[in-house]
Amino acid sequence: MVLVTGGAGYIGSHTIVLLIEACYEVVIFDNFSNSSRESIYRVEKLVNQKIDLVEGDIRNGDDLQKVFDSYKIDSVIHFAGLKAVGESVEKPLKYYDNNVNGTRVLCEVMRENGCKSIVFSSSATVYGDPHTVPILENFPLSATNPYGRSKLFVEEILRDLYLSDNEWKIVLLRYFNPVGAHESGTIGEDPNGIPNNLMPFIAQTAVGKRESLSVFGDDYDTPDGTGVRDYIHVVDLADAHVKALDNINSFDEVMSINIGTGNGYSVLDMVKAFEEASLKKVPYVIAKRRAGDIASCYANPSYAKEVLGWEATHSIKEMCEDTWRWQSNNPNGY
Ligand code: NAD
Ligand code: WQD
Repeated sequence: MVLVTGGAGYIGSHTIVLLIEACYEVVIFDNFSNSSRESIYRVEKLVNQKIDLVEGDIRNGDDLQKVFDSYKIDSVIHFAGLKAVGESVEKPLKYYDNNVNGTRVLCEVMRENGCKSIVFSSSATVYGDPHTVPILENFPLSATNPYGRSKLFVEEILRDLYLSDNEWKIVLLRYFNPVGAHESGTIGEDPNGIPNNLMPFIAQTAVGKRESLSVFGDDYDTPDGTGVRDYIHVVDLADAHVKALDNINSFDEVMSINIGTGNGYSVLDMVKAFEEASLKKVPYVIAKRRAGDIASCYANPSYAKEVLGWEATHSIKEMCEDTWRWQSNNPNGY
């Protein structure tokens, strides 16, 4: 059985669908701090079965022990975490407690129960401001904000854990920019309040919830001056987790793996692609650069293909069409 922490969230809910389709048995563990039960009900409809759920907090060892008492857990996919960069600057201790301490408690309970297999949600943010693109896994690591540092610290903790006991099987998946939604249009990204990320902001503008998009800077050293990112469809990302689990027992070192498409798209590319997919106008204004942003960030994803047999298959058009289906069917989210 696979324990999926944060399984009610955006990436977790899509991964649950693919895990069940791949015949894995799953139990979700979530405290619903950034999600709702509705996402799980919708996943249940998609896969046509009930999904086991334990409500609890990863920082609470007793909550986690209940899961290990009730189920035979073979491995963990660990999505649970906070992810708002701006909030992490305002409330760093909240981020270190939830993301770093939470992961420490989780690993402790896993160890006590003889479960030593974990796939961790890391991020391209651990490359900081890369000297060159595309980014390879052996590039230097750094962080520019507390959220990023929490990911970097957890990576380091997991590497130390492996050094102390190499029975551990650890896969660090470094996601680039997850976007899109399940093609059914019934599950997707549902940010609280004003979205920080580009794609949900564009989608809410297209559906009429926001007046216009602020493009953060048009004077970067990129083809059109706006920031370039590696957007990856959330279903491709979910599939990378299934492949990580399929292969995890064959690894004899901590695996750090980029999960991206290898293609960079600018903010204006995304606006255009979204307008084409939605047949809606996305009004925008050029604004000043956002503090901490970098010009270009995209992966060299060839290692994922080599070690997981995984590569992204969804195009930017599908990312926009699926986001639009989700957004237009669910203008107010779940
Ligand atoms: P999300 O907020 O939708 O999902 C995270 C889930 O974890 C939520 O359901 C939340 O309620 C739960 N959670 C948070 N703290 C918890 C705690 N202490 N105990 C139990 N549950 C808790 O976010 P997401 O976009 O699905 O991201 C999943 C993971 O991937 C996160 O760790 C995030 O940092 C990482 N990641 C996300 C992105 C991105 O852009 N979405 C990029 C790189 C990495
Ligand atoms: C993408 C591009 C912005 C909003 C963040 C985190 C990172 C990772 C993914 C978790 C940039 C521009 C954005 C807007 C804009 N999360 N933009 N107007 O910054 O690449 O990465 O999310 O690990 O850690 O930092 O993603 O979607 O915020 O921005 O012009 O309203 O869109 O400047 O060029 P980012 P993003």
